Amino acid sequence: MSRVKKYYIETYGCQMNLADSELVAGILRENDYQATTHPQKADMILVNTCSVRENADQRAIARLHQFKNLKKRNPRLILGLLGCVAQRDRGRIIRDNPFIDVVLGPDAYRRFPEVLRGANLPLVDVQLSKSEVYDRITPFREVSVNASISIMRGCDKFCAYCIVPFTRGRERSRSPQSVIAELHRTIEDGFREITLLGQNVNSYRWESYRFPQLLEEVAGIAPEQRIRFTSPHPQDVDDGMLEVMRSYPNICPHIHLPLQSGSTQVLRRMNRHYSHADYLKLVEKIRQYMPDIAITTDIIVGFPGESEEDFEETLDVMNTVRFDNAYMFKYSPRPYTRAAKWADDVPPEVKAKRLNRVIATQKGHSSQHNRALIGTRQKILIDDVSKKDENEKRGRTGTNKIVILKKGNPSIGALLDVDIVGASGVTLFGEMKK
Ligand code: 5AD
Ligand code: SF4
Repeated sequence: MSRVKKYYIETYGCQMNLADSELVAGILRENDYQATTHPQKADMILVNTCSVRENADQRAIARLHQFKNLKKRNPRLILGLLGCVAQRDRGRIIRDNPFIDVVLGPDAYRRFPEVLRGANLPLVDVQLSKSEVYDRITPFREVSVNASISIMRGCDKFCAYCIVPFTRGRERSRSPQSVIAELHRTIEDGFREITLLGQNVNSYRWESYRFPQLLEEVAGIAPEQRIRFTSPHPQDVDDGMLEVMRSYPNICPHIHLPLQSGSTQVLRRMNRHYSHADYLKLVEKIRQYMPDIAITTDIIVGFPGESEEDFEETLDVMNTVRFDNAYMFKYSPRPYTRAAKWADDVPPEVKAKRLNRVIATQKGHSSQHNRALIGTRQKILIDDVSKKDENEKRGRTGTNKIVILKKGNPSIGALLDVDIVGASGVTLFGEMKK
């Protein structure tokens, strides 16, 4: 009898990449492979990489390099690089790193069965598709609290700094039927929270069926689950979506609304299709619909040509909106993008200084939001143990704030009321209600 074959996957990057690894795991399991957490025991080692902000593919290749020696013990070991690999690089990767057996881009995962059936290696396929949405493939999710459901793939927005349209290809949506079928499966599997995922989640469309309708249908089918979605593009936020969010108590009162820059000039060069004033107006409208909603964002500092005045505009938006949280980045040129052709002319020390300023500004706002919650009662969904102390449980509020439970030991997956008794940085501390 032959031994059950095992795979080991490491994933870097965004939630889309994590969801893609679950998809790959689903395909591998359909082909009788099982997961292992020990690379030494694996028959196939995969590194799923991301190149949004840096040359992570080089790091991923270096990581695969570390596994190369395992081939001495198991000459049939397959080493694979997955994810956002640039098409231009495919030949070079294999030429420079002959120990890599498989290079598959995000639209090529259906080729795995071929690999498992003994296709000639190396196999390289980073072709992007206009239609691949992996319908009818059941992702394999580790048993946990949150299930991500990918509802669309790719992006057609072509922001001037962003590599995603080149590594993940054209925007395409999955049929509502297949999203809903997956939703039913995740509910049956006991997941307590559903995150609808897409590079531009609210650009979702299937003929005349749009994101607000899908969100409403999902919220109606899963009244006991918390519903989240990420990431929406400000340009595609409409009244329909806000109305649905307001109407369903199970849709979490949180929106991640990437600002990128507060300067209208910079936004124009970024190809973001909104101005400083448009963004503020949108935030105002969102807060009219849902006064208590948490708003988080992404900010890039040091985009080509960003002057001190431009940067002040970003701080200005931050100070007006007072985001609950933000992911903040120094601009780095990415291949293929429009901005890569422009001079990366903000000196590194200026980028660093600006980044420190946005971080300090955000820290102030986050802690102000958090301190305001001390003394209130919040509903939290317990999703893990605390990273710092395994004896303590960790949960999240609907507004996506992390709460460490100092008193009480509920089971993972429990949704319960806690009293917020303290706050530090972006973390809240709570006690189970007496
Ligand atoms: N440089 C810096 N940050 C970037 N992002 C995307 N591309 C770049 C880049 N070239 C950031 C954006 C985006 C987030 C996922 O990564 O803020 O919203
Ligand atoms: Fe990149 Fe812009 Fe598309 Fe977001 S919307 S994935 S930043 S191109």
